[in-house]
Amino acid sequence: MNVGTMTIKSRRSVRKYKPTKIAPYVIQDVLDCGRLAPTAKNLQPWLFGAVTDQDLLRQIAELTDNAPFIADATVCFAVFGRPDETYYLEDCAAATMSMIIALQNLGLGSCWVAGDKKPYAGAIRDLLRVPSEYSLVSLIPAGAPAEIANPPKKRLEEVSFLDRYTEKTS
Ligand SMILES: Cc1cc2nc3c(=O)[nH]c(=O)nc-3n(C[C@H](O)[C@H](O)[C@H](O)COP(=O)(O)O)c2cc1C
Repeated sequence: MNVGTMTIKSRRSVRKYKPTKIAPYVIQDVLDCGRLAPTAKNLQPWLFGAVTDQDLLRQIAELTDNAPFIADATVCFAVFGRPDETYYLEDCAAATMSMIIALQNLGLGSCWVAGDKKPYAGAIRDLLRVPSEYSLVSLIPAGAPAEIANPPKKRLEEVSFLDRYTEKTS
């Protein structure tokens, strides 16, 4: 396994963080990995936020319905897209994953937290004073991992095929 695939395969969502500081250049680097993700027609219809203020982190955590751990993150990235662009969701999902992998590569844990389709998306956008033409697609709380879960994954044979799909009997 090479270093790239090892980084990707070893990633798991982290929801407990140590109170370790993260250098500003690391935060910039992760934002930059989002910026450089692919987008349909290269439109780049997005905006990336990095929240480090503890009071804002707490308010974001309280607004979400299943991510109280954001309050204890060292930083929470927020990915916003322009819904008037057809592929904004795919674009922002690609950026989210690039940022999560960048964090993993830096030894930092993170967790994709839903933004799109969530009732709190507008409130978080307003809290961060993001213009209304953008909509929240994802939140990425991150920090030094204090605990890493290992949820079960389907086997490769169950979820993949080569050339043409054939029904499995057992
Ligand atoms: C679109 C999306 C939304 C998610 N939203 C949440 C969330 O709101 N809260 C949370 O704790 N985890 C969330 N997750 C993380 C998943 O629960 C996690 O990826 C899944 O359980 C598999 O675990 P793993 O990431 O460790 O492989 C989300 C993941 C994705 C891809």
